[in-house]
Amino acid sequence: MSTTAAPLAPQLDPYALAAELSGKHLIGGRLVASASGKTFDVVNPAKGEVMGRAGYGEAADVDAAVAAAVEAGVTWKALPARERGRLVAECGRLLTAHTEELARLVALETGKALRTESRVEAGVLADAFTFFGGLGGELKGETVPFNPKMLTLTVREPLGVVGAIIPWNVPMMLMALKIAPALVAGNTVVVKSAEEAPFAVLRACQIMAQVLPAGVLNILSGFGPECGAPLVAHPRVAKVTFTGSVETGRIVSRTAADKLIPVTLELGGKSPMIVMGDADLAAAVAGAVTGMRFTRQGQSCTAASRIFVHDSLHDAFVTALKAKVDAMVMGDPLDERTDIGTIVSPQQFDRVQGYIAEGKRTPGAAAHECSALPTDAALAKGLYVRPVIFTGMTNDSRLAREEIFGPVTCVIRFTEYEDVIAQANDSDFGLAATIWTRDLKTALDATQRLQAGLVQVNQNLVVQPNLSYGGVKSSGLGKEATLEAMLEHFTHKKTIMLNMA
Ligand code: NAI
Ligand code: MG
Repeated sequence: MSTTAAPLAPQLDPYALAAELSGKHLIGGRLVASASGKTFDVVNPAKGEVMGRAGYGEAADVDAAVAAAVEAGVTWKALPARERGRLVAECGRLLTAHTEELARLVALETGKALRTESRVEAGVLADAFTFFGGLGGELKGETVPFNPKMLTLTVREPLGVVGAIIPWNVPMMLMALKIAPALVAGNTVVVKSAEEAPFAVLRACQIMAQVLPAGVLNILSGFGPECGAPLVAHPRVAKVTFTGSVETGRIVSRTAADKLIPVTLELGGKSPMIVMGDADLAAAVAGAVTGMRFTRQGQSCTAASRIFVHDSLHDAFVTALKAKVDAMVMGDPLDERTDIGTIVSPQQFDRVQGYIAEGKRTPGAAAHECSALPTDAALAKGLYVRPVIFTGMTNDSRLAREEIFGPVTCVIRFTEYEDVIAQANDSDFGLAATIWTRDLKTALDATQRLQAGLVQVNQNLVVQPNLSYGGVKSSGLGKEATLEAMLEHFTHKKTIMLNMA
C-alpha cells in the first residue's frame, strides 16, 4: 500500500495540484524526484505560462521503476485474478470521485476544453478501470481433447513488467486502456507519460496507488529518447504498448524486435468519412463535427480528416459544416462556455500552421476558416488555431495523405461510389472510417470493403471500453479496449499436460 495516511481529497485548483506534483515520478508507491534531481517546464498552452515542472526521467529512474515493478509482480500475479480485478475496479471508483479535479488538470496542461473534452476524458478513464476490473474471472484457460490418457490444459499467465508509452492528446484515457487490462491480467506496469502532459496521468496514478500494492503501477515523466527509449530497451520489460506517431512506433518496434518481446502499437490515422447523395445531411454534418474532433482541435488519431461528399450534397454540406463550426466558441479551456481550446505545444502549433499554409498555396483549393480567435488579452499567447475546412483538395495532396493532428479537414467531392471506396482506401492508414447513407446495401457493402479497424454507419462515436480498437496498415499492430485485447496482448498461453497412464 502507498504510504499516504489520509485518503487523497480532490483538489480542484489545477495550479495548486501541478505545484504539488512538480518534479515527481511515482515509483514503488511513492512520489519521488528524479535520480538526477532534474526537471523540465510544463507549459499551459492557453496562456503560454509555466504551470509546473515535471520530473526529468532518465535511465536511472527507469531502472528504479522497473525494479519496483519486478518486485511487486511476485505477489501481484499470485493474487486471485478476481481480487486483482476488485482492486482495479476500486481504482475506477476512486477515479470517479476525482473526475472534476483530473478534468481541470488535463485541461490546463493540454489546452483541451473542460466542458467538451476534458471532463469526458476523465469519465472514460474511470470507466475503463470499472470495465476491466470486472474481467478478472475471464482469464480462463481451456482443456484440450488431445489424448484421453493425458489431461491437457492451457492457462493464461501474465507477461511480467509492461512498459506503456502514451501521448498527450487523450493521455488519461489512452493510459487507462493500456494499464487496466495489463494489471488485471497480473502484470505490473511502468508508464512513461508524454512530455506535454505529465500531471493528470501522474495524479491518476497517485490516486490509484492508494489501493494498489506499492510498485504494481509506476509512472515516469520525461522525453522520448532519454526516458521512453531506455524503458523499451530495459531487459526486464517483457512487453511494450505504445500510442503515438508512426515514426516513433517504428523505433519502439525495432528495439522490441531486438529483444524479441511483443509490442502493441496504436499509431496515426487519416480516417475517411463518406457522405453518399442519399445521406441525412444534418446528421452527417453533426457527425463531421464530432468525427473531426473539432472540440479537441482535431488532435485525434481517428479524426475524420478526409470527408468525401457526393457532388449533389457537396456545397450544402460545406455551408452547413462551416456554419456549425463557426458557432463553436474558442476560448479559455477552463471556461465552461468554451467549445474549442488550444493546440498542445508550440511544435504542434507550427506543424499545423505549416499544413494550413501549404493548403492555402495549393492550386484549386480553398480554405474556409471557421469560428473566431478569442479576444481575451490573457489568452494572447495561447496556441489557438481557427478550424479550417479545405475544399478543392485532392486525395493525393499532402494534406489528405499525412496526419495533421490539428483542426484541419479536407472535403473532397465525388460522384461514383466505386471511385470513392478506392479513394478512401488509398491511404497509408487504416484506423477508422464512416459511411453515411440511407441505403442498406451500400452501407453493408462499404462496411465490408473499407480498410479500417473500426467502420461505422451513420454515426461517429468515439473510442470506449468494450469496443475493439486498433488499426490496419500503418495505423498500428494489435487491438485495445476489450477482453480479447487483455487476453491476447497482456498474457501468454501456457500448455500443461499430465500423463495419467
Ligand atoms: P511521439 O510519437 O513522438 O510521442 C508519443 C510518445 O512517445 C511520447 O510519450 C514520447 O515521449 C514518446 N517517445 C518519443 N520518442 C521516443 C523514443 N525514441 N522511444 C520511446 N518513446 C518515445 O509523437 P509526438 O511527437 O507527440 O507527436 C507527433 C505526431 O505524432 C503528431 O502530430 C501526430 O500526428 C502523431 N501522434 C499520434 C497520436 C495517436 O493518438 N495515434 C498521439 C500523439 C501523436
Ligand atoms: Mg515526437
